[in-house]
Amino acid sequence: MEYHVKDESLADAGKRRIDWANRDMPVLSLIRERFEKEKPLEGVKMSACLHVTAETANLMRTFKAGGADVLLCASNPLSTQDDVAAALVVHDGLSVYAIYGEDDDTYYSHIKEALTHRPNITMDDGADLITVLHNDYADQTKEIKCSMEETTTGVMRLRAMEADGVLKLPVIAVNDAKMKHLFDNRYGTGQSTVDGIIRATDMLIAGKTVVVAGYGWCGRGFADRIRGMGANVVVTEVDATRALEALMDGFRVMSMEEAAVEGHLFVTLTGDIHVLRKSHFEKMKNGAVIANSGHFNVEIDLDELRELSEKVVEDVKVNIDEYIMPDGRSLFVLAKGRLINLAAAEGHPASVMDMSFAVQALTSEYSLKNDLDVRVHDVPSDIDELIAGLKLESMNISIDTLTDEQVKYLSSWDQGT
Ligand code: ADE
Repeated sequence: MEYHVKDESLADAGKRRIDWANRDMPVLSLIRERFEKEKPLEGVKMSACLHVTAETANLMRTFKAGGADVLLCASNPLSTQDDVAAALVVHDGLSVYAIYGEDDDTYYSHIKEALTHRPNITMDDGADLITVLHNDYADQTKEIKCSMEETTTGVMRLRAMEADGVLKLPVIAVNDAKMKHLFDNRYGTGQSTVDGIIRATDMLIAGKTVVVAGYGWCGRGFADRIRGMGANVVVTEVDATRALEALMDGFRVMSMEEAAVEGHLFVTLTGDIHVLRKSHFEKMKNGAVIANSGHFNVEIDLDELRELSEKVVEDVKVNIDEYIMPDGRSLFVLAKGRLINLAAAEGHPASVMDMSFAVQALTSEYSLKNDLDVRVHDVPSDIDELIAGLKLESMNISIDTLTDEQVKYLSSWDQGT
């Protein structure tokens, strides 16, 4: 077994962290127990390019229990939990390639290791592995039964590849499953983004004007949580329907040009590039804090910010860089514009990753049992329903069922009008 992690002596601490997360992952645990008995992934090589966290570790353990030969590499240089990476190597015997803070060359060399593994199933959180596969290892695409994508922007990219006719293998949009985006994106990002900002800055939220760029599932989750802590929340959007939703959910809505003057804290959750740029930085207040919880490190135009600045002081505190403008204002960027919830906190809580990763586990099994054609597929709805039922059961919550009379009414056209 080959691997590249920071320090194997961290393995015991990592194991405790993984076991702790597992307590909050009852659905994935049930799937793991079944996989252990049925071995649905026997002989399958899997390469996963995901955030290397305790929750991901429990997914990797599930694949291993199912009989797969698993390799894990990081999908973000600043989200790796080094103790977890060490534990997976030392205690679970997995190949892991991930080191917190790795530079770009190391990051991509790790992705290459994942492809040298010659996987039959791949997983991405942001489409990096599948992009390298298409660019540099295209001859291997025939060996891959299916690839699964965890996040919104990754799915957008894959749909663009499909539309351009360059997609070379079947892909499943895990992000689009209800059990993923309705919970992970909204409640997971909502809570963990607040957590990351507070851990990085220790700022008091009450009374601050917080500008939330993007009112998709992540944006609305964050806007709702930060409002609960007493912030005066402004939402910016490019989509008129979403902007109206934000307005009627009780938020102020305006353009970023207007919001730039008002904000104490700016958080991007859009999935697009350069949402905060020169014309906005020029207007921001002294002391404004800027963070991203949307996509990779592209939402804040740091090159423009650097050009505008007279001086940049890195690490004024861990995860905070100070950009000093010629007019004396300081703007503070968190975690170098990378995902603040994973860079400064621990990502989404295990309880919500339980659902997302249950989708990954069941979808991998589904992809082996079915011959999928080359396009972007949705997760079958029965996987969503099964996971929802199991999650409720794990919380001892029962729900009602339709009576025969109600079933008949719902399927009729001639009753009750
Ligand atoms: N994405 C967001 N939070 C995560 C977590 N805790 N583990 C893996 N991927 C994540």
